[in-house]
Amino acid sequence: MKKFTNVADIGDLDKALAEAADIKRNRFAYTGLGRNKTLMMIFFNSSLRTRLSTQKAAMNLGMNVIVLDVNQGAWKLETERGVIMDGDKAEHLLEAIPVMGCYCDIIGVRSFAGLKDKKEDYEDRVIEQFIKYSGRPVFSMEAATRHPLQSFADLITIEEFKTKPRPKVVMTWAPHPRALPQAVPNSFAEWMNATDYDFVITHPRGYELDPMFVGNAKVEYDQRKALEGADFVYAKNWSAYADPNYGKVLSTDRSWTVDAEKMALTDNAFFMHCLPVRRNMIVTDEVIESDRSIVIPEAANREISAQTVIKRLLESL
Ligand code: CP
Repeated sequence: MKKFTNVADIGDLDKALAEAADIKRNRFAYTGLGRNKTLMMIFFNSSLRTRLSTQKAAMNLGMNVIVLDVNQGAWKLETERGVIMDGDKAEHLLEAIPVMGCYCDIIGVRSFAGLKDKKEDYEDRVIEQFIKYSGRPVFSMEAATRHPLQSFADLITIEEFKTKPRPKVVMTWAPHPRALPQAVPNSFAEWMNATDYDFVITHPRGYELDPMFVGNAKVEYDQRKALEGADFVYAKNWSAYADPNYGKVLSTDRSWTVDAEKMALTDNAFFMHCLPVRRNMIVTDEVIESDRSIVIPEAANREISAQTVIKRLLESL
């Protein structure tokens, strides 16, 4: 595997899940693989889980790790070609990327959608430039349109907790005060559509996702109806995708918050969220603290998804 930005890059999901389970059983079995190899993690945006779990995964594989927060201590980077650089940006990404590639063997990049220009966001320009110009295997630590390490961890978690071969998985929009990218819901939908699960998406009108990611999922605008019989409830906020409202918050309607009454409609479902989560906006204290909440095992599996991906990238060197 030379890059990891979407579900197609991981190939056969059963094989990837078996490899992840093997790593989880003995996460130090491959410490020789990363010896004298360096992972560079480049963050254009904040992180807690991705930063810690990916670093830990690389250390489990015996790698050295360099972390760069682009907005803290590095030169401000220009990303557009043709710009006259007479402003506050001292360096162009087109020099910075190959320079970064000189100092490492594998690169992880986090670069969120700006939510101003849909075309620019959905071309995933920053990570695509890393793939093109770094000369190194590159993986996404959340790009503008997808968060595949999260989705892979979500899939691992569902496989661990499911009690029937074809569970009903419901991804529900939930309110949030700020405009968030569509990367997590896009990616979760992409990965769920690659399984044979019964996958349903529910959201208020106006929050339709890119049809490319919705795929064959059932879209149900009535949240209560969608939740009936669910085995897993995956809550997430996202901003509007459709024009002319791209990147806007259209609603903060707290009747969409996942509470105990909503969970009672399900088949004793597990509650999932990628975190960080706004309590009592997305989900009530009661639900996230309940014994059906699996947000912590879900976050723990971020180490496993990252280690599986980095292992495969190391094997490609
Ligand atoms: N879920 C997730 O990616 O968390 P962070 O933004 O903290 O990395």
